[in-house]
Amino acid sequence: MNILVVGGGGREHAIIMKLAESPRVEKLYCTPGNGGISKYAECFDVAATDIDGVVALAEKLKPDMVAVAPDDPLVLGMVDALQAKGFKTFGPKANAAIIEGSKVFSKELMKKYDIPTAAYEVFTDSESAISYLKEQNSYPAVIKADGLALGKGVILAQNEEEAVQAVHEMIDELKFGKSSARIVIEEYLTGPEVSVLSFTDGETVVPMISSMDHKRALDGDEGLNTGGMGTVSPNPYYTDAIAKECMETIFKPTIEAMKAEGRTFEGCLYFGLMITPKGPKVIEYNCRFGDPETQVVLPMLDTDLADIFEAIYDHRLADLKISWKTGSCACVVMASGGYPLSYPKGIEIKGLDEKGQVEGAFVYHAGTKLSEDGRFLTNGGRVLGVTCTALTLEEALRRSYEAVDKITWENVHFRHDIGNRALQAHADPLDLYYKDDMEDYIESNGVYLRQ
Ligand code: AMP
Ligand code: GLY
Repeated sequence: MNILVVGGGGREHAIIMKLAESPRVEKLYCTPGNGGISKYAECFDVAATDIDGVVALAEKLKPDMVAVAPDDPLVLGMVDALQAKGFKTFGPKANAAIIEGSKVFSKELMKKYDIPTAAYEVFTDSESAISYLKEQNSYPAVIKADGLALGKGVILAQNEEEAVQAVHEMIDELKFGKSSARIVIEEYLTGPEVSVLSFTDGETVVPMISSMDHKRALDGDEGLNTGGMGTVSPNPYYTDAIAKECMETIFKPTIEAMKAEGRTFEGCLYFGLMITPKGPKVIEYNCRFGDPETQVVLPMLDTDLADIFEAIYDHRLADLKISWKTGSCACVVMASGGYPLSYPKGIEIKGLDEKGQVEGAFVYHAGTKLSEDGRFLTNGGRVLGVTCTALTLEEALRRSYEAVDKITWENVHFRHDIGNRALQAHADPLDLYYKDDMEDYIESNGVYLRQ
């Protein structure tokens, strides 16, 4: 099989590496790819959002399958365009990708099909939104742009002033363009967050190993929200009991709801969950693999990813046994100083040579470029995802950080506490979920309480 992967970050590097393990895969292509990916796949400089360009590239390369990884091309209908030209694809069509493309759509879907999520209201004018906020007078207030906003469309306003400002910026100033002309204001939930990616062909849903993201830029969950500064899998808060409950109350109902709406979802559906004292609830859906979740999920996959992609395309997922390795995986993101705001590009990365690397560790490239003389340069906010699988989370983290220590560049930034909360949860024998006073417990232990 020859496969073209669309995208160019750490997630795509992880997808490429897993596909490269398949004895059935002969040639891998990636567009646009990046410096690290170019060692394993032939890269092209067609942007991931360029639908006509990617279709034209596919017509030239004639791959047996095209996997579309990022949200924008999926929401824009790249899969539809590729299928119209007869290509086999991995990823949802536009009418299903809307589950991520519109928060209003996803909230209405959950309401209609009784899928647990935060209570909400939708607004298109700032005046009614602000009077609603004043009436509720409950902070933090959660304000979300309806459409895609580069992961920046969720504001947790700590007070009325911040909330009013967010509403004005979104609706009146169209901070995220059309994406924020409509907003959702929703109930603030508390509890540990769990990411569950799933494979689905629209009939069968197979959850992957769970993971935990670390969204804030700085240690101790301080600083700005980012695309994700590190991940671990599995997520210790996602117990077997919770997994079972999620399957019955969230995963299956969502797949069935999409089918009933005539929007059958095929591909990877990402469930962003919060384990609240009232049970697991959906925080968000993504119509794709998460980044950097994929970097700790796919290394744990034992089944051939090309087989899975094909089974989904052929609607045979129920016939495929998907298995996972035991142990844990950790990924520490190394970012450009200044991320998620402004940062320089083109800085030489040192210590990435094969020599002296840590056993079991692997470096996924997120934002790198290979210079003409073969040096790796920074080329984005998140630059590398240093990843390691091991039998225990402690060991996976220890080796990931050992590898991080060997790599550096001017003004590099990474978090030093990836996985600490997960380790704390491991060390704690309490089954938090079944403690009635979970909120008190969390508060007194300082775990997972949002400020
Ligand atoms: P996103 O940018 O959509 O990935 O979400 C940003 C983050 O906002 C989530 O990971 C949660 O930590 C937080 N968040 C979103 N919705 C809520 C909510 N209803 N209550 C509390 N926190 C939330
Ligand atoms: N890491 C969160 C996301 O991919 O949206």
